[in-house]
Amino acid sequence: MKKILLKGGTLVSSRGTKRADVLISGEKIVAVGRHLQAEAQVIDVSGKLIFPGFIDAHTHFDLEVSDTVTADDFDGGSKAALAGGVTTVVDFATQNKGETLTDALNNWHMKAFANSSCDYAFHMAISDWREDVREELPAMFEQGVTSFKVYMIYDAMELSDRAILELMTELKKYGGIVGCHCENSAIVGKLREKAIKDGNVSPAYHPLTRPDYTEAEAVNRFLSIAKAADAPCIVVHLSTKAGCEEVLRARKNGVKVYAETCPQYLLLDDSVYQKPFDDSAKYVCSPPLRKPEDNQALWDALKANQLNTVSTDHCSFTLEQKRAGEGDFTKIPNGMPGVETRAILMYTYGVKKRRLSLQQMCAYLSENPARLYGMYPKKGALKAGSDADIVVFDPRGHGRISAATDHGKCGYDPFEGTRTVGGVEKVFLRGRLVYHDGEVVLEHSGKYVSRGKNSLV
Ligand code: URP
Ligand code: ZN
Ligand code: ZN
Repeated sequence: MKKILLKGGTLVSSRGTKRADVLISGEKIVAVGRHLQAEAQVIDVSGKLIFPGFIDAHTHFDLEVSDTVTADDFDGGSKAALAGGVTTVVDFATQNKGETLTDALNNWHMKAFANSSCDYAFHMAISDWREDVREELPAMFEQGVTSFKVYMIYDAMELSDRAILELMTELKKYGGIVGCHCENSAIVGKLREKAIKDGNVSPAYHPLTRPDYTEAEAVNRFLSIAKAADAPCIVVHLSTKAGCEEVLRARKNGVKVYAETCPQYLLLDDSVYQKPFDDSAKYVCSPPLRKPEDNQALWDALKANQLNTVSTDHCSFTLEQKRAGEGDFTKIPNGMPGVETRAILMYTYGVKKRRLSLQQMCAYLSENPARLYGMYPKKGALKAGSDADIVVFDPRGHGRISAATDHGKCGYDPFEGTRTVGGVEKVFLRGRLVYHDGEVVLEHSGKYVSRGKNSLV
């Protein structure tokens, strides 16, 4: 079996950093320690930070939505992922109304199989809660799908509070967990309708019709439902200070709530929606970008370990697709890319700005998602026995984010021109070098990851 010895790097985990070598045999890490010796290909990684492969637990690849399909399928999306040091994505298999969960899961397997260059797992997004869907849940667990997403908004996806309560109550039996997109659909719907009626059709009205209290109210309601079900839950893509306060209050009151945010909610704000159509439509995602005070509150919560994961909600559309909403912002497909830039942004604007420690970066991007989504320590750890998913990160050097060098397919980057420090130099996926110095060097070798239960305390 092929052996590789990574020599002299600084290993990062959620508990600290240490100088150690890593010995890989086949797909696994077989030893971690000082001065390891072995008959192996030796790679000098001194001066480099060595992270367990990053996990992006919130991507939408090859998603049909708003009468179109995301620019990134599993081919483009997974290559962008590797360039961002992401060795595993947890994508949202999505049930269309009328479908069974088995249909949706098979559909997502077909999209990903033989196309993904990184490993992949699936959450199941449920849009149609029915008796036969309830009966399918055990089959989902048997197939390694242990987390589910519900939406409180979007006509095609919205579930009632009652349906969410029933789903959570049912999932508790199996040790599953529900993540929720929290926005108040009645208020947002009404505000959007009024904006269009009044001729307020530009992207500037996107954030104005989704005010922060519509997230906070929905977070509060979702956490009340979780309390009634006495079930653990996840607030995904948390974007506001007010929503964050609801999470902290509920947690204090005994609700077992985990929370995710994304780089765009930390680093961008709603001033971008004042730009001309093409430049503002790029940033139309839901929830929308917020205010600098919201950015700050989320950084503070990350620093205090009050949030649990930083994902991306990668859901990319080309400018041409976004132009479907020229003349009516409600028709702009929602979402933006991010899987490629998350790590470098968190390193540059988190670690280097002292908003986060390296350990926290490792926790938020790798270890916590591995635990929360039932993959630890196969994923998310640099330990003997773990998959040899490894990021060799060069902490030196400066660069700028540019669509010209991105691997995704949407043709622009929301962080275009943003200065960065350091970079992903090499990525190993189950022991094989898949990315090196800006190039994906081994494609389509991603495998499905069947997941277990949440072990994040
Ligand atoms: O605008 C976004 N975030 N689109 C992706 C779907 C979702 O709501 O997560
Ligand atoms: Zn969402
Ligand atoms: Zn999403």
